Amino acid sequence: MAKIAIVYHSGTGNTEKMALLIAEGATRPGIEVEAHRAEAVDVAEIAEADGFALGSPDYYSYMAGELKTFFDRALQHKSKLSGKPYVSFGSHGGGAKVLESIDRLASSIGLKEVCPGVMSVGAPSAGDADDCRKLGEALAEAVASQ
Ligand SMILES: Cc1cc2nc3c(=O)[nH]c(=O)nc-3n(C[C@H](O)[C@H](O)[C@H](O)COP(=O)(O)O)c2cc1C
Repeated sequence: MAKIAIVYHSGTGNTEKMALLIAEGATRPGIEVEAHRAEAVDVAEIAEADGFALGSPDYYSYMAGELKTFFDRALQHKSKLSGKPYVSFGSHGGGAKVLESIDRLASSIGLKEVCPGVMSVGAPSAGDADDCRKLGEALAEAVASQ
């Protein structure tokens, strides 16, 4: 069975809500979807997944250190990750910069962006929730068509 790994950090729960909405959108027969907090993830195991959703709150116009450390650890698994599809997501307080850092490092480890990521200001609104589900669907479609 194909696998999608959602890897995220969340300090106060907003990004975590987005992660769970993306998981809802990505779930379909034949694809296993798992959500992991970045600080707890086994990177070698995660690198075997077929697609990724990577998310973080905006901390000082950058991703949280926990997700950055995930990327640092992921570099040694670049050969496994290269060419696989990913999407990004994040919550912020109005700065809207967080995806720039996630997308830059995802590209550095060889992941290929399926479509532009989704951001929410604070907790996801009803519209953001729809966008998160659609992001999950797009990722699942990319994984299924590999
Ligand atoms: C240490 C820290 C730094 C932050 N820096 C920014 C920032 O530079 N720009 C911004 O828009 N929001 C910033 N925020 C606000 C968070 O991104 C926002 O509250 C987000 O919704 C938190 O998501 P979470 O609930 O998943 O932790 C910061 C919050 C914290 C705790």
